[in-house]
Amino acid sequence: MFITFEGLDFSGKSTQAKMLHEYLKSKKISSVLLREPGGTTISEKVREIILDREHIEMTPLTEFMLFSASRSQLVSQVIKPHLKKGFVVICDRYYDSSTAYQSYGGKMELKQVLEVNDIATGGLKPDMTILIDIAPKAAFSRANLRGNAKDRMENKNLAYYNKVYKGFKDIANRNKKRFVVIKGSLTISEIHNSIIEKVNKKLKINY
Ligand SMILES: Nc1ncnc2c1ncn2[C@@H]1O[C@H](COP(=O)(O)OP(=O)(O)O)[C@@H](O)[C@H]1O
Ligand SMILES: [Mg+2]
Repeated sequence: MFITFEGLDFSGKSTQAKMLHEYLKSKKISSVLLREPGGTTISEKVREIILDREHIEMTPLTEFMLFSASRSQLVSQVIKPHLKKGFVVICDRYYDSSTAYQSYGGKMELKQVLEVNDIATGGLKPDMTILIDIAPKAAFSRANLRGNAKDRMENKNLAYYNKVYKGFKDIANRNKKRFVVIKGSLTISEIHNSIIEKVNKKLKINY
C-alpha cells in the first residue's frame, strides 16, 4: 500500500507521516517513511539544488524537471522495491505537490505536468493520499511561530499560496477515490486518529 501526504508547508504533513509510521511499526506492519524531494542519495542532492536560495535564476520548467527527476529516482530505487516486498510506503509529498505548486501555483501547463508526473513515476499512483487542509493564512501564522530562515520555495507570497491551496482542493476533487481530506485545524491527535481509521479500513485491519 502506497500512502502519500499532501498539503501546504506547515499543514502538519511531516508530523502526521511520522505518527502513522510509528503506529504501523507498533502494529508490526512493515513500513517505510520517505520525503520528497529526497529519499535517495541522488534525490537528496537534487533537493539541495531545488531549495538553494541562491538559485533565483531557476526557470519554472527546470524546477519542475528537477522535482520530477528526484521523484523518478525515488520511485525506481525505493518505492517500487518496497511495495513489491509488501511494505506500506509512506511518502511526505508526491506528484500532487508538483501539480499544485508548479501548475496551479506556477507557470506550467496542467496537462504537461500530469503527463510528466506519469512518466517520472512510471504511472505509480498512490493508493491513498491524505490532504491536510489548512488555509495559507493559518499556515503562515505557524511559519511565523517557527521563525527560522526560509528556503527558496518558502520565500513566495500569499497570493501564490492561495493558488496552490485551491490547486490541492481541485486535485482532491478530481481524484475522490484516493483522496482523504482532513481539516488541518484539528488537533494533532484528532488528525492522527482519523488517519489511522482510514488506513486500517483500507488495510482491512480491525483494532
Ligand atoms: N494539528 C496541528 N495543530 C497545531 N500545530 C500543528 C499541527 N500539526 C502540526 N503542527 C505544528 O505545525 C508545524 C508544522 O508541522 P509539520 O508537520 O512540520 O508540517 P509540514 O510537514 O506540513 O510542513 C510544527 O511546528 C508542528 O508541531
Ligand atoms: Mg514537512
